[in-house]
Amino acid sequence: MTTAHESVATHDSSTGQSLTTSAWLDTHFLAMQPEYETMLRWVGIQPGWHVLDAACGNGSFLPLLTELVGATGKVSTIDLAPENVQVVEQRAQQSSWLAPVVASKAAHYA
Ligand SMILES: C[S@@+](CC[C@H](N)C(=O)[O-])C[C@H]1O[C@@H](n2cnc3c(N)ncnc32)[C@H](O)[C@@H]1O
Repeated sequence: MTTAHESVATHDSSTGQSLTTSAWLDTHFLAMQPEYETMLRWVGIQPGWHVLDAACGNGSFLPLLTELVGATGKVSTIDLAPENVQVVEQRAQQSSWLAPVVASKAAHYA
């Protein structure tokens, strides 16, 4: 998903941080998905846990995270870029993930 904020050259989100746009995060995650999902499974997250995905981006890890915590668990997410939080909210509404997902925008401390 591309938003009006995105810089094509450095993939800046509205926060000004490079490599943080939703489109870039999708491209990067897909390229690394097997390794990232192996790493996440290795953590040992158990059904029923309440997991925080801090700096979640557009929520690439949420399909597996919600699968791991299951219907008795919960995932909270936080990100600095409001457009990324919006994508997470849309994905949570449109997906049939087992666990509920609560998305929040982080406050910016300079
Ligand atoms: C490189 S991306 C990684 C996103 C995601 N974890 C992934 O692996 O696909 C870093 C994310 O951290 C967010 N971020 C940067 N500083 C943050 C802060 N202080 N609090 C919350 N999120 C932050 C950015 O907006 C961006 O979405």
